[in-house]
Amino acid sequence: MVNHNKLSTKAYVLKRLREAERPLTGNELGKDAGVSRVAIWKGVHGLQASGYSITGDEAGYRIKKDAASDSEPSDFLYPWEFAEREGNFHYWENTDSTMNRARELAEKGAAGGAVITAGTQTTGRGRNGRPWASRAGGLFFTLLERPGCPVIDYTRYSLMLLLAARKAIGNVSGKKARLRWPNDIYVENRKIAGVLTELHGEGDRLKWLSLGIGVNVNNPVPVRNMVNCAELAGRPLSRRELLLSILEEWSALKASDIPPGELCRLWNRSCDGIGRTVALARNRAEEPEGGQPDGTGVFLGTDFSGRALLRCGKTIKRLAPGKVSLRYIR
Ligand code: BTN
Repeated sequence: MVNHNKLSTKAYVLKRLREAERPLTGNELGKDAGVSRVAIWKGVHGLQASGYSITGDEAGYRIKKDAASDSEPSDFLYPWEFAEREGNFHYWENTDSTMNRARELAEKGAAGGAVITAGTQTTGRGRNGRPWASRAGGLFFTLLERPGCPVIDYTRYSLMLLLAARKAIGNVSGKKARLRWPNDIYVENRKIAGVLTELHGEGDRLKWLSLGIGVNVNNPVPVRNMVNCAELAGRPLSRRELLLSILEEWSALKASDIPPGELCRLWNRSCDGIGRTVALARNRAEEPEGGQPDGTGVFLGTDFSGRALLRCGKTIKRLAPGKVSLRYIR
């Protein structure tokens, strides 16, 4: 840690070089931060080894700038990219699943608020036991939270994350993103992101909660009814900018203390298909996406516990996520 706003040496060097209009020497960087020139040199070497284009000569260190945007062409998710919040960020270039890394952190007693990201995942997990294709260029992360609330209130967090991600994806891609019950985000009728929630309770209280989200950003999408942000925007986009934007929305929602009814209304206003007729199919182990339809109903939105409300004749059914799939038919 250097004396400069409690940044790590890497975060500090990065910040200074990015802001600088001229080369900066190890001596002056060290002096300003109250650390040795050797500590700065180690920080620079660490950054170079991680892929940053930093050069050094007798005039000092400089970071290579991209002529067009005046910023270096990088889209790194390393913890030191997040400056003062660095301690909350954990990054794996490649891992099996960020859900597993979150679990390990939680079991070691990590505090809530951790953000676990990965460049690629070898066994990315989707809902209902499906895989989540996790090739380079996508954004894959898990939020570890310890809300200490009753287990039944966990849905508040997935509803908020979906709202936050929907807004951020819409902003960066320039297209309107919509929610689909239970945990998906769609743009122009193609899936762009999905959320997976894992709960760990103690008695009736949540011990910890992990919320994983995968967003197609620059990665090739695995199937035709999916889309990525780059295709929508017509250019590659920064995963880091998108992550920051999601986290900003997420923090604002968490801090807002929004009442449950209002949160549901907000969610339903952003959700596709309300008022449409859907075919309802129970998910079975062999058909996690639901097989033969088990009836139809009119989709009315979600309730606060994340259940879909379906009008079937004169009755309103409440359907738990994971148990059924809905397919719009009219
Ligand atoms: C779905 O739509 O089925 C949910 C997909 C969730 C994927 C994310 S990627 C980050 C986190 N790690 C995982 O293994 N899964 C979630």
